[in-house]
Amino acid sequence: MSEELYRAAWERCAHSPEEFWLEQAKLVDWIRPPQRALDEAGAPIYRWFPDATLNTCANAVDRHVAAGHGDRPAIIYDSPVSSTQCSWTYRELLGEVKAAAGMLSGLGVSRGDRVVIYMPMVPEAVVAMLACARLGAVHSVVFGGFAPAELATRIDDARPRVVVAASCGIEPKGVVEYKPLLDAALALTTHQPDAVVLKQRAQCPVELTNPREHDWDNLLTRAVPCEQPVEVKATDPLYILYTSGTTGKPKGVVRDNGGHAVALTWALGAVFDVNGGDVLFTASDVGWVVGHSFIVYAPLLRGATTVLFEGKPVGTPDASTFWRVAADHRVKAIFTAPTAIRAIKREDPLGHLIDRHDLSSLKTLFLAGERLDPDTYAWAGERLGVPVVDNWWQTETGWPVAANLRGLAPMPLKAGSPSVPVPGYEVHVLDAEGARLPPGNEGAICLKLPLPPGTLQTLWQADNRYVSAYLTQYEGYYLTGDGGYLDDDGYLYVMGRTDDVINVAGHRLSTGAMEAVLAAHPAIAECAVIGVRDELKGQVPRGLVVLKAGTEITLEQLSRELVARVREEIGAVAVFKDVRVVDALPKTRSGKILRKTMRQLADGDTPDIPPTIEDPLVLRSIAPQLQQ
Ligand code: COA
Ligand code: AMP
Repeated sequence: MSEELYRAAWERCAHSPEEFWLEQAKLVDWIRPPQRALDEAGAPIYRWFPDATLNTCANAVDRHVAAGHGDRPAIIYDSPVSSTQCSWTYRELLGEVKAAAGMLSGLGVSRGDRVVIYMPMVPEAVVAMLACARLGAVHSVVFGGFAPAELATRIDDARPRVVVAASCGIEPKGVVEYKPLLDAALALTTHQPDAVVLKQRAQCPVELTNPREHDWDNLLTRAVPCEQPVEVKATDPLYILYTSGTTGKPKGVVRDNGGHAVALTWALGAVFDVNGGDVLFTASDVGWVVGHSFIVYAPLLRGATTVLFEGKPVGTPDASTFWRVAADHRVKAIFTAPTAIRAIKREDPLGHLIDRHDLSSLKTLFLAGERLDPDTYAWAGERLGVPVVDNWWQTETGWPVAANLRGLAPMPLKAGSPSVPVPGYEVHVLDAEGARLPPGNEGAICLKLPLPPGTLQTLWQADNRYVSAYLTQYEGYYLTGDGGYLDDDGYLYVMGRTDDVINVAGHRLSTGAMEAVLAAHPAIAECAVIGVRDELKGQVPRGLVVLKAGTEITLEQLSRELVARVREEIGAVAVFKDVRVVDALPKTRSGKILRKTMRQLADGDTPDIPPTIEDPLVLRSIAPQLQQ
């Protein structure tokens, strides 16, 4: 029955997308409602709801207050690392957002301007995002674990009028001061913002010396509230979120206002079965897409309550923290990355800590961000006694491509598969020539164009890069960069990236960017970085380096220097700790380094050795270093 329901919804969306999406568009309050859904004029770059206008913040906050839900909690802030717990109703959130929008407007921010947000998991991060949306400005949130150079690249690309930051983040090992990182980034950029607004945290107040620097609290109390949300086109950008690609230069994924509001409001109900008044606990970070979509926008657009959790699955204070949060706030669904569950399982293998909490409100555990290994799937399902629902997507798509639609048509779950394509997505597995592969055959996972509402519009001021990186390899398709296969029932199995992107503890990173850092070291002639399997983090990077002839440096010193460089240039989040010196790197005759073959050897799998390999002896000679 459920399967029929799912197929009917998928078919209807595939065959009558106009009708399907115009119907879902009724979930949103428009200023000018859409008369049409898809605009194909700029194909292969598509636009959704081209004639409509709205304001995303009004949909996420104002309308719930207007509908009489002003007293409903919008955000529950639970921060074990700062010993804080508080909750903001929709009415309180509206007051804060109006003030913050007024504050940004007072600093000259208006429709179309960019604002970079560099903040940890504090409510002000959400308020700043919504305040930008209220003004029709475009936010770009940068994850706090990135180093100044990465922040600088994003600032130079987005060219923000204002940067909003906090004085520090709090990691289990202690306070991470953000202000020096921001100052270092701004010393590197050619673009300079007009103003920097800083939320002072009690753990680390800082002195503001530069006239362009302002204290968030001071400025907020003086701000003239922005009562009226600014009308924007559905196709105007809401945010830019930078993500790692195959080169060192991150890609600025652009999300629109209208398609995003429709898709997220619909998906939260259809996929996650979370509705107005339900409590969703997404344990991620606002700096990642999971945070944008499922900590901030989807729950608020739908009138649910979102838990903003500042802490880690273990160590803050222990492996019971997720279960304590779920019990304290009567959470209906938890959404996190498999690595978080693996970290918990490692500390509490029998799940005793789970039993100490009343999890009767919890209906589902959703996992995404990296491959869900069958062991973690089984452990979580058995210990929690609720369905464990894998879902596959990426920064670019903004919401699940493949999932089990718990709100619309729950279907049987299969270990190792994020289930089936969500209505709106036509998933094909293609061979190298672009032919569709039959079930069971692994190939490139591609999405038939046009992509549904809420997916990326383009890359920030780089339409050509968008087309060449995603839309050129297979005509008529979006290339996901993941490999995998479909089974006879249409369930998708995602086997991993086919490019130079790796996934470390659910964090997406570019090996190309790490290689660029290693290659700049004076002792290095050549290098490659591969992602090797890791029991906790899924993958961790390993650097293979060839030294310049005559170089005299010990492995210990070289490792220390390279590890420090990656930490300084990319950030601690890269978790780059493993350096191996090799005599040569295996290549094809055309000079392409065989990273995939090396990764397979390092993982203990049978390597695919291409017939075009230049010298098979090189591979044989480095095998021991790879496998240790
Ligand atoms: N600000 C500053 N530093 C940060 C940071 C942040 N927001 N996030 C991570 N870091 C630092 C960590 O402190 C650590 O530094 P260290 O090398 O000095 O110890 C380093 O980056 C690596 O962090 P991480 O990979 O997260 O390792 P961890 O050992 O601290 O935690 C997990 C491991 C599995 C518990 C953690 O990665 C986790 O909770 N992952 C969930 C993933 C997730 O939410 N993904 C988002 C997509 S769903
Ligand atoms: P990000 O853009 O950071 O969300 O990372 C997206 C990438 O993470 C995808 O291209 C996949 O490689 C991987 N990924 C995300 N979710 C899953 C999943 N459920 N199963 C397997 N891989 C996943």
